[in-house]
Amino acid sequence: MPMSAEILRVEDIHTYYGNSHILQGISLQVPRSKLVAILGRNGVGKTTLLRSIMNLTPPRQGKVFFCDEQINNLQAHQISRKGISLVPQGRRLFKSLTVLEHLQIAGRPGGDWNIEKVFGFFPRLQERINHKGNELSGGEQQMLAIARALIANPSMLIMDEPTEGLAPLLVREVYDLIKKIKEEGYSILMAEQKLDFALNIADKIYIISKGQVVFSGKPEEVACNKEMIHHYLGV
Ligand SMILES: Nc1ncnc2c1ncn2[C@@H]1O[C@H](COP(=O)(O)OP(=O)(O)O)[C@@H](O)[C@H]1O
Ligand SMILES: [Mg+2]
Repeated sequence: MPMSAEILRVEDIHTYYGNSHILQGISLQVPRSKLVAILGRNGVGKTTLLRSIMNLTPPRQGKVFFCDEQINNLQAHQISRKGISLVPQGRRLFKSLTVLEHLQIAGRPGGDWNIEKVFGFFPRLQERINHKGNELSGGEQQMLAIARALIANPSMLIMDEPTEGLAPLLVREVYDLIKKIKEEGYSILMAEQKLDFALNIADKIYIISKGQVVFSGKPEEVACNKEMIHHYLGV
């Protein structure tokens, strides 16, 4: 069977918290080596969708395929071993572990990401090599969260609002880093609230409202549709 053009395929996912039906039949595809951005207001289900793909919040219905293999029946750690790394919302670092220890724990063979390459890519982290998680600035924490995902040598990255809470200058820096990662050929699925940032970096956009996909298409189509932007994104 020929390898399909998409690396990730989500089919009709339904996810609940108790009785609340949060994701109401979401389907999406991430093409290989492309960046797909998920946009939507606060609380529409972006994080729930990313967690559903990783089976951290298991869907009650639907299927997920990664590299043409069905993965929704696997556990989260098995899914990450298949080659998907999640950069969670809010970074989720360990307060008392150093930069180096975070990288040592997360490191996995299988690609060219190792400590040296990480420090070449993120020189700021090398300067902070012995700093603990709670001694890093917001930007440094985000870089470490991304570095930790990369050093596992995944073939795909899932990022949940990587620029959340960062000052404009740092947003720019993280944007440049993600662009560089993308240029290395990574497939990326990213939830984002910053419209400009998403439209600049993404190859494909999905807009979610109330747990459903209400738009999918090219960034240019979003950019010129002011009404849709206002209605679904509130800007
Ligand atoms: N652990 C949880 N238990 C119950 N409800 C939750 C939980 N996490 C999120 N929710 C609710 O699910 C909805 C979607 O949340 P979330 O996926 O975090 O949205 P987003 O990431 O788009 O801001 C929201 O209404 C939120 O309040
Ligand atoms: Mg979220």
